[in-house]
Amino acid sequence: MEVKTAKSAGFCFGVKRAVEKVYEVAGEKRSGVYTYGSIIHNEEVVGDLEKKGVSVLNSEEELKALAEGTVIIRSHGVPRRIYELLREKGLDYVDVTCPFVLKIHRIVERESRAGRHIVIIGDKDHPEVEGTRGWCEGPSTVIKTREEAEKFLREGHENVCIVSQTTFNYKNFQELVEILAKKRYDRLVLNTICNATNERQAEAAEIAKTVDAMIVIGGKHSSNTQKLFEICKGVCKNTYYIQTLADLDSDSFRSIQCVGITAGASTPNKIIEEVSKHVRIKF
Ligand code: F3S
Repeated sequence: MEVKTAKSAGFCFGVKRAVEKVYEVAGEKRSGVYTYGSIIHNEEVVGDLEKKGVSVLNSEEELKALAEGTVIIRSHGVPRRIYELLREKGLDYVDVTCPFVLKIHRIVERESRAGRHIVIIGDKDHPEVEGTRGWCEGPSTVIKTREEAEKFLREGHENVCIVSQTTFNYKNFQELVEILAKKRYDRLVLNTICNATNERQAEAAEIAKTVDAMIVIGGKHSSNTQKLFEICKGVCKNTYYIQTLADLDSDSFRSIQCVGITAGASTPNKIIEEVSKHVRIKF
């Protein structure tokens, strides 16, 4: 069996930096360390950190109830009010928001202050988008579908700044921006999709074109893994979404000559290597 593993599979710069920092803080403090939300969408890593005394705060209410400790802000970033809350409570915090996400916060803060309506192309329930919205000083709208874009046009906004969730699919972003450009109005478009995402998506599509089956590895709640899966499935119908080696169904790989492997930004290398080795040896 030939196996083609994407070079861009796995941790991106922002996630690697965040995970390393949590391990570092856990080593220094030994207890009372919290991440505001799971540091990454990977149960194995979160479980390992738990053993090292790192707990996950799952909501703003849990943060409000916290009396002491060190809170780590993950790479997705948080709304401004979370920083205010941390300061009010006098809690220590370590901010590992990815610099590319911080850049979007600064853009929406500046442009909304200048009176622009902020449009975020992305998923309104994603923590990164929630965080970005929390830096807008005026109205903001999240758009994910063509219908939502058409509706936004009908609403007749005049002065708009369009940014994107860092992990949004570039082609879909372009399509939505084209819809939003149908009307003549003051519009500032900033493509804030992260390069790590672009590269990973482009490489996955290239590999998917040349293989009989494709394996996409990542947490089930990881939006960038879900997008990778959609892209690969669009090119190679035998595409499988797994979280770990245990999810791999060997029957699906009978009579297959060549398999491609890619993984989302929160998938540890260890899991990618395990899957790759297994496929090479067992199939
Ligand atoms: Fe940052 Fe891009 Fe990763 S925005 S967290 S380097 S996907």
